[in-house]
Amino acid sequence: MNLSDKHCLVTGGGSGVGAAIAVHLAAYGANVTIMGRREAPLKALSEHIDTMAYCVCDVTSPSEIATSLASARTMFGTIDIAVANAGAASSKPFGKLTAQDLTAMLDVNLLGVFHTYQAVLPDMLAAQWGRLITIASTAGLKGYGYVSAYSAAKHAAVGLTRSLAIEVARKGLTANAICPSYVDTPMTDRTIDNIMAQTGRDKQAATQALIAGNPQGRLIQPAEIANTVAFLCGDQAAAINGQAISLSGGEI
Ligand SMILES: NC(=O)c1ccc[n+]([C@@H]2O[C@H](COP(=O)([O-])OP(=O)(O)OC[C@H]3O[C@@H](n4cnc5c(N)ncnc54)[C@H](OP(=O)(O)O)[C@@H]3O)[C@@H](O)[C@H]2O)c1
Repeated sequence: MNLSDKHCLVTGGGSGVGAAIAVHLAAYGANVTIMGRREAPLKALSEHIDTMAYCVCDVTSPSEIATSLASARTMFGTIDIAVANAGAASSKPFGKLTAQDLTAMLDVNLLGVFHTYQAVLPDMLAAQWGRLITIASTAGLKGYGYVSAYSAAKHAAVGLTRSLAIEVARKGLTANAICPSYVDTPMTDRTIDNIMAQTGRDKQAATQALIAGNPQGRLIQPAEIANTVAFLCGDQAAAINGQAISLSGGEI
């Protein structure tokens, strides 16, 4: 596959899953713009790849997205592929959850996707071609204890993606969600640290508690998500629309 005529936006592209996706798409020849709030990881990833640029941008702010995209378009042209990957997770028992906790999860995991897609949609509609890819979670397809706010936001992101897919279906665009179970990234490292702090378990036992839900008994690798994104970008994936693709070793 050759993506050298495509400009891909990857939100949260400075670390973890987003970084793997950005590097993978660049390897297929794409021009890639990565976004995040911290400059250091964005700069470190992009400085050795000629076809990658970065914008410091908080995806919960539509005005920051608009400013960032204006500069990204100057560099690489209009956006063809948007990977709404930026996200955050928090955990609390439901009884201790506050409305602010829920709002914080919705802000980044749902409104971040919403603002990103609203900003790139005109480019794709004008081109009559586009790929909108949401990095959701198995928590967007089923419930898990202690993450009801995160799970609610990810279910909502899946619903947004599925509905948008219907609206753009005859316009050359597809919209799909990818739903991984626990992935080997800094976010999961923080979850493991949290389990250790809450339960007194050691790192191995805390990790085991996470991977027990995956029938393959392992963490998903960021490269596996990047491969799925690249597949969805190809013209051979044009019929895949409105799907929530589980990458979970058979958990769901
Ligand atoms: N790790 C897992 O087990 C797992 C499982 C299923 C789904 N996911 C999803 O996969 C995606 C990537 O997560 P990850 O595991 O790679 O975690 P990660 O390493 O913590 O990466 C999250 C990225 O999102 C960026 N980000 C967070 N809030 C942002 C905001 N408001 N505006 C712009 N960028 C923001 C972060 O950069 P800054 O902090 O610099 O902004 C960071 O680069 C998330 O949507 C996550 O929910 C992860």
